[in-house]
Amino acid sequence: MNKVIQLKVVDVVVWAVSLLFAFGLLIGEAMADSDSFTATNKKWAAECGSCHIAYPPQLLPAASWRRIMAGLDRHFGSDASLDAASAAEIGAFLERNAGHGKRGRGEPLRITESRWFLHKHDEVRASAWKNPQVKSAANCGACHAGAARGDFDDDAVRIPR
Ligand code: HEC
Ligand code: HEC
Repeated sequence: MNKVIQLKVVDVVVWAVSLLFAFGLLIGEAMADSDSFTATNKKWAAECGSCHIAYPPQLLPAASWRRIMAGLDRHFGSDASLDAASAAEIGAFLERNAGHGKRGRGEPLRITESRWFLHKHDEVRASAWKNPQVKSAANCGACHAGAARGDFDDDAVRIPR
């Protein structure tokens, strides 16, 4: 190969690599803002999904999960205590997959009190939260049919009337 062609080839390769990189960043960004959560752990699904849906770890910052796991014996008026081994496994799973960016701020004890949640739901009328079919904002499945599967995509939202 002569020098000029060699330089052209290098040029094209550099271009291709930076394009791929930019594309990767875009996909990463889209995933960070995705509203479908698939991370799972058997213990977590069984223990944290027995009274309500197992809330996806991505919906609260790590600091919030630490607070919640430290107070399971007085958990929103219930006793949700666990043996030490299960608590350690679940705590690690929650923190490893905890929310980042807009879902990583502060350390609210409730998903329903975090700023991103209030923002996403600011068009839900006050009366909708009090509907007997909803009962509590924490009852995600009343409006998000796929909540138990971690699917909160806005395409599947239906507010009961
Ligand atoms: C014995 C029943 C029980 C178990 C087991 C349980 N919870 Fe809860 N949890 C509750 C109740 C009751 C509430 C309050 C629901 C409401 O306000 O409508 C709640 C609320 C929550 C909330 C706040 C929801 C909101 O308002 O945003 C989080 C987060 C949560 N639980 C996480 C967990 C995790 C993590 C586990 C497993 C380690 C767990 N829960 C196990 C009963 C339970
Ligand atoms: C009273 C009905 C209702 C309840 C209960 C409810 N939501 Fe929503 N949720 C909505 C509506 C309406 C939207 C807005 C959809 C839109 O933007 O078109 C929404 C949006 C969202 C979004 C953003 C979806 C997107 O694609 O932008 C997430 C994530 C979400 N909710 C999570 C939750 C979680 C977690 C819970 C339970 C802790 C919950 N919601 C409880 C009605 C509800």
